[in-house]
Amino acid sequence: MYIGVDYYPEQWPKERWNTDLELMQQLGINVIRIGEFAWGLIEPEEGTFDFSLFDEALDLMYEHGFDVVLGTPTATPPAWLIEKYPDVLPVDKYGRKIGFGARRHYTVNSEVYQCLSKKIVQKMGEHYGHHPAVIGWQTDNEYGHEQSDRSYGEYDKQAFHTWLQKKYGTLDELNERWGTIFWSQTYTKWCQIPVPTVVYQEHNPSLLLDFDRFCADAYTRYNKLQVDTLRESISDRQFITHNFVYTGLAIDQLDMAKDLDFISFDNYPVWGGLAEPITPAAIARQHDLCRGTKDGKNYWVMEELSGAQGWSQIGYLPRPGHLKLWTYQAISRGAEAIVYFRWRAARYGTEQFCHGILDHDGKPGRKYAEVKDVIASLAPFADKWITSKVQADVAFYHDPENDWAWQIQPQSDQFNYINECLRFYAPAHDLNVQTDMIRGHEDFSTYKVIIVPIYFLTKKHVNDRLKDYVKRGGTVIFTYRTGVKNEDNVVTDLTLPGDVADMAGISIRDYESLREQKRSSIRGISAPLLTHTSPVHVWCDYIEADSAEVLAVYEDEWFSDKAAITKNSYGNGHVYYIGCGVEHDFLKRLYIDIFNNTGIAVHETPSNIEVIRRETSSHSYLTVLNHGVNQGYDVELPDQGQPWKDIETGKIYDRNVHVPRLGCLVCVRDK
Ligand code: GAL
Repeated sequence: MYIGVDYYPEQWPKERWNTDLELMQQLGINVIRIGEFAWGLIEPEEGTFDFSLFDEALDLMYEHGFDVVLGTPTATPPAWLIEKYPDVLPVDKYGRKIGFGARRHYTVNSEVYQCLSKKIVQKMGEHYGHHPAVIGWQTDNEYGHEQSDRSYGEYDKQAFHTWLQKKYGTLDELNERWGTIFWSQTYTKWCQIPVPTVVYQEHNPSLLLDFDRFCADAYTRYNKLQVDTLRESISDRQFITHNFVYTGLAIDQLDMAKDLDFISFDNYPVWGGLAEPITPAAIARQHDLCRGTKDGKNYWVMEELSGAQGWSQIGYLPRPGHLKLWTYQAISRGAEAIVYFRWRAARYGTEQFCHGILDHDGKPGRKYAEVKDVIASLAPFADKWITSKVQADVAFYHDPENDWAWQIQPQSDQFNYINECLRFYAPAHDLNVQTDMIRGHEDFSTYKVIIVPIYFLTKKHVNDRLKDYVKRGGTVIFTYRTGVKNEDNVVTDLTLPGDVADMAGISIRDYESLREQKRSSIRGISAPLLTHTSPVHVWCDYIEADSAEVLAVYEDEWFSDKAAITKNSYGNGHVYYIGCGVEHDFLKRLYIDIFNNTGIAVHETPSNIEVIRRETSSHSYLTVLNHGVNQGYDVELPDQGQPWKDIETGKIYDRNVHVPRLGCLVCVRDK
């Protein structure tokens, strides 16, 4: 297994390199990522290439026995480039040019930038494509991050028009599908179509969604330009990857991943001013997204936080133990390599307070000892462990286009896309049920339950596949605001929930956005929810049950006759509809019942405990993580037919295991 560090040799005196590499050797790492921001150094002026610093660094790394991942440095176009070609700078929606001075200051739609990028990538590929230390490449760095996903300048507008022409063919088609008759927006020339810069109030949602699709496609094309350029000269044994983030950007990771050998992810459970890490479920969901990006293929964590992180604000300091816990969580959910960010905290520049394994003083301390311990613990079993696979019974539908449609029209000031996805993910995570993220093209028959959260923007082919899946005996859970839009971001003319109303056996004619602190509440009227109540947030769909059975109703003097949660039989399967933002415990109760009825093993543990299971043909692996910082727990192990063996200590556990605070362990048993 690869375990490594992100290192910036250019940021340290050469005299220090040997010390760093020796310390890395003593630490036990085997891979180093370098180079992703070093454009100015490699091409100090246009057309002049100087590889001397990286030649020296790479040779030294090779001598020390390290493998290297090399970044293409296009996230940081240097000062000379911006001076000479200021038009490559992106433009924000207020029409302001983003300046030079940080990073990601380019638009992928500038042909000049495409040419300059191709040139540096080509030169690097030719120079290092057969270097014995270089095992692979990372293109750019976190496409779209820091709000660099959308640019609204002249080049973007031209490219948008070309993209629209390709998509629609004729203006009549576009006018029809966008409904431009509304407010005199009918276009008679392509050049009249705006990019969505600031207007009074809001643009046409159909235009906005297409603009997001266009931005995502533009990045995919730009990445492909880099990939194709590299492949012209690099050796077959070198891979190409990119380090994604999953925060609702106008980036389509799944689409881009088709051009990559595998995907990578930057894992920061806490960053900037956060007072606490994000929840274990939120971290887990991101890992599930990574695994789902390339059909279940393992991925790399190209940046795994090792110390407190932030630019002008620093928040929570990860406690001793977090580093191992988050590493084990990542591997358990599909990471096959972990690269810690960063080797040593920089003394200058924007990221002075992004702490690393070493702090500014360069002396090995607590974090160095922790990483060393992680590497030593993993060494005996990691290579086998990463060949095992998560076998999920439950799938979550995830489509970035649905995310973008929600961002365009959140409809409630309480709506936040990730939080609402987590509302429906967290109870399954709490029950330690393994989950996959799917886009809709996968083989549904391997799942016992498919949860389709906040499915606002529906797709006909997905709906048809879901119907077929339920008819054959599957179970689907829909949630509030399903079926409202078609793929053009136009509201359906069917009674809600639109195209899936028949399978849900319901009609929705009234609904309400719950704003600010406004809540409603619901009451269960049949098992398993009978007598239980829950406050509800964000949204209420007031449901009329047609063929569906009512499981919960609203406690509302006006709408007490309306259902809040329903269950319908459809073909051989079942469809649930949860019409509101129900609270965690209530939802968990419902999930337990659904999972029990569908033959999915639930494993209840204290909420800080996460249990993940992986399989090979001969072995089962079980990871038990305690995310709590205050107390240890005695955790009952699942599936107790056979004892579990602690892979590190060899101890045999029949029923329970004690997991100290921030503790983690991996167990194994034969099949
Ligand atoms: C990541 C980025 C790194 C560094 C890090 C700081 O998002 O890829 O280059 O900025 O954050 O924590």
